[in-house]
Amino acid sequence: MRSPTFSGSLLLVLLFPGALALKTADWKTCSQSGFCRRGRALSARAQESASSWKSPYSVDPASVAVGSTQASFTAAVKSALYPAVKFELDVRVHEDGVVRVRMDEVDGLRKRYDEAASWSLIEEPRISQNIQWTVSKAGIKAVYGAKKDIEVVVEFNPLKVTLFRGGIEQVILNGRGLLHMEHFRKKEDKPVEATEGDAQAVLQVNSAAWFEGEEQDAWWDETFSSWTDTKPKGPESLSLDITFPNHGHVYGIPQHATSLALPSTTGPGATFTDPYRLYNADVFEYLASSSMSLYGSIPLMHAHSADSTVAIFDVVASETWIDVSHSSDKSTETHWISESGILDVFILPGPTPEEVFAQYARLTGTAPLPAEWALAYHQCRWNYVSTDDVRTVQKRFDEEDIPVDVFWLDIEYAEDHKYFIWDKKTFPDPVEMTQDVEAIGRKMVVIIDPHLKRTSSYPVYQKASELGVLVKPKSGEGEYEGWCWPGSSSWIDFFHPGSWDFWISLFKTKSIDGQWSWTESTNSVGIWNDMNEPSVFNGPEITMPKDNVHYGGWEHRDVHNINGMLFVRTEHDYFGTSPHECIQTNHTFQAASLRTDPPRRPFVLTRSFYAGSQRFGAMWTGDNLGTWEHMEVGVKMVLANGLGGMPFAGSDVGGFFGNPEPEMLVRWYVVGAFSPFFRAHAHIDTKRREPFLLDEPYKSIIRDILRLRYSMLPVWYTAFRETAATGVPILRPQYMMFPKDKDGFTIDDQFYVGSSGLLVKPVTQKGVNDVSIYLAEDQVYYNYFTHQAYRGSSKGTRVTLSAQLHEVPLLVRGGSIISTRERHRRSSPLMKHDPFTLRVALDKAGSAHGDLYLDDGDTFSHLEGQLVHREFAAKTEKKVIRITSKDIANVDPKNAYAQSIAHVRVEKVVLVGLGAKPTSVQADGGKELEWDYTPGVASDKQGQAGVLVVKDPSVSVVSDWALVIKL
Ligand code: NOJ
Repeated sequence: MRSPTFSGSLLLVLLFPGALALKTADWKTCSQSGFCRRGRALSARAQESASSWKSPYSVDPASVAVGSTQASFTAAVKSALYPAVKFELDVRVHEDGVVRVRMDEVDGLRKRYDEAASWSLIEEPRISQNIQWTVSKAGIKAVYGAKKDIEVVVEFNPLKVTLFRGGIEQVILNGRGLLHMEHFRKKEDKPVEATEGDAQAVLQVNSAAWFEGEEQDAWWDETFSSWTDTKPKGPESLSLDITFPNHGHVYGIPQHATSLALPSTTGPGATFTDPYRLYNADVFEYLASSSMSLYGSIPLMHAHSADSTVAIFDVVASETWIDVSHSSDKSTETHWISESGILDVFILPGPTPEEVFAQYARLTGTAPLPAEWALAYHQCRWNYVSTDDVRTVQKRFDEEDIPVDVFWLDIEYAEDHKYFIWDKKTFPDPVEMTQDVEAIGRKMVVIIDPHLKRTSSYPVYQKASELGVLVKPKSGEGEYEGWCWPGSSSWIDFFHPGSWDFWISLFKTKSIDGQWSWTESTNSVGIWNDMNEPSVFNGPEITMPKDNVHYGGWEHRDVHNINGMLFVRTEHDYFGTSPHECIQTNHTFQAASLRTDPPRRPFVLTRSFYAGSQRFGAMWTGDNLGTWEHMEVGVKMVLANGLGGMPFAGSDVGGFFGNPEPEMLVRWYVVGAFSPFFRAHAHIDTKRREPFLLDEPYKSIIRDILRLRYSMLPVWYTAFRETAATGVPILRPQYMMFPKDKDGFTIDDQFYVGSSGLLVKPVTQKGVNDVSIYLAEDQVYYNYFTHQAYRGSSKGTRVTLSAQLHEVPLLVRGGSIISTRERHRRSSPLMKHDPFTLRVALDKAGSAHGDLYLDDGDTFSHLEGQLVHREFAAKTEKKVIRITSKDIANVDPKNAYAQSIAHVRVEKVVLVGLGAKPTSVQADGGKELEWDYTPGVASDKQGQAGVLVVKDPSVSVVSDWALVIKL
């Protein structure tokens, strides 16, 4: 079943095969990238000269100017190699103790790109009013923190920045002397010889070659494969070493297909030969273990030890390579090499993982609470080929009683890949089709790619061209033309403010003033942004030439990694992010109110992302393969994205390429069911594999897995609320939960879901019947399904769980209360009034607690106090267990939303870990309730746990109540 336009895609793929098969040769290695080569060579020279190496950069003490707030200062910096070149250092301490270090060239031949932070940060961070710098001859320092234990020291000669906590070094910038901001120069410029007294006179080295190398390596142009990058601005790269003394593990800098704790890329025992690369790229069939770039870049690295967590956020938008070296298991050395831009580095002092998340969230924001349906199951494929196909697929799900919320349309819906324009041969009635899907609250998501077919018959291209908002070629004139799905294409320049209102106007479902807009759509349709790295089939490394020109005259090289985020940002804005944001950006507000009144929460999925993209929607890990390795690494990648502040993440269930065997598909559904974003997707050449097509027992097993996800939607939604408020990821790796337990620092194949206490270890290997789960604490854990109890130990214990194909290895941590909805429904909106089950898993002291967050799951009324947030608690005292429900929302508990669900009951309480049969179970007023007790062998909290089931305690989910269980 292929749409007629498929042949177009196929032709393109034949013309540009690089787009469909991994040829590592299509992407540069460090040694093929001039500035990376230069950066690594600098590091090699430093290593060779060892103790005699000294950074040529120093601060002029006389220039230090402390700002009016006292917590900021500026100072002149020079390099002994080029005494005439001026740099300015600007160091600030924010209210929350984050240190920002900026350095830029002053009065240079050109301006370096300095706008990355303005796209990434939510606002200009507030500088502390209390902290003060103290200047001395050798440097300047600030001491702060509640215990006055944090000290930032900027040494003048050579320039070095160190963050200490409790007198111990935590983060050092330029400790190894690799700082180098290549200044703008003229081709004919000769290096200036150092004068006596300059840094390297001390080192008895008298030429710039000592520092910059003998040759002008790729300064003025660079060829890769058949492409030449003209580099009109010459060399402008930036190198900086960042050392994390006393932190043996580093995490983050997504997106790479590798383990969560980042392996070394240099030094003894390095896993990879190339540094981690951040250069958003469309790498089809990417390797399952590699330091290569993928679709998104978040230059945020966490460093962790049993005593501390800190992080570095390097706001740079150009291609960046990061070498990691674990010289000992106690320290980590890193080296960041970027092609262009200013130095703009934030040091996040932690000292706990939670504090690092909060510090990062204050900079770049958090993922807003999505619509609840977006957390349900999404069914995608390249492609559902016609309106009838969509209807049939929906019907088959219903016939087989398999829940699903969202049907997706890939590029073949669009006539000649002109996005927004339906191919009427196959999609004659798109609005009716969408309405059919929406009849029971389901949704459609439709793809809109950023490349525009260059034809006058495409109103979107036509208008963009008229407005002059398309990316320009290196000449700075006209429109850049490249190849993508529609053939000859151009790309909107989302850095151009003139593109925003225009792009937003396209999504209006009612045409205004005769302007073309997407009238053949409905207000509920979600958007899928793909290919926004951007992917250009005939471009260097399958993307845009770096010398293309964007708004403001910036080259594509300066902004590449932000490009994808701005596309999403604009679309997201259309739907209205939140009333608050709408007010900040007037056009957003207008657009949002044009679509619906009141505005509804948008859904946008992106493939490409940058630091801050979490504010605009979900991401997925791109074109994975249907292999066990890809399934496994997908889990780690989603965890890494969470650490990078982008928790709404998932990977294609089933693998994009290939035809997974049923066993693999079943396991992949478990991975999906425990990912924040849960979507099955498949390449156009794969066999259809919707769950209803499978034979038994696979079909029923997948139905059960989907039902499990649906029953747990309240858990996911509550976890999303928390991440929206705090920035703490939804999927929590072991080290984050137990930051002091060294044995957990490299565990990345099991994780906790939010604060719920659920601990899952998806099976990602073939032929497995059991799994080993690591328990870091002296606590009891229960099998979610069987109530088998396992006791951990404070030294760390491994327990074995049966994990046959029909079994999900899922534990509940003792001390948790899990809220679920267990009625089987066809879609999540149908569950809105369903009753709740509370699973109370007692800890070793007989206590438990949990929270449940609810709102309408659709509009922004929760920001105006229309919500319910309950805390459930269980406490054992003198042979009486009291289970209580209390309001913890900061709003009027009688708000209209709460009243609208007052009839929603708790229909069942399952108390797990009860060692003895109760003598009575009563509601608050003393009424005896119906209950059932199954004894266990639970005296030492090992073996089968005793379980009490209280049926219909007749309590509302929105009111305060208590159950009293007497033993
Ligand atoms: C590449 C995307 O990664 C994939 O998910 C999509 O199906 C194809 N583009 C076609 O749109």
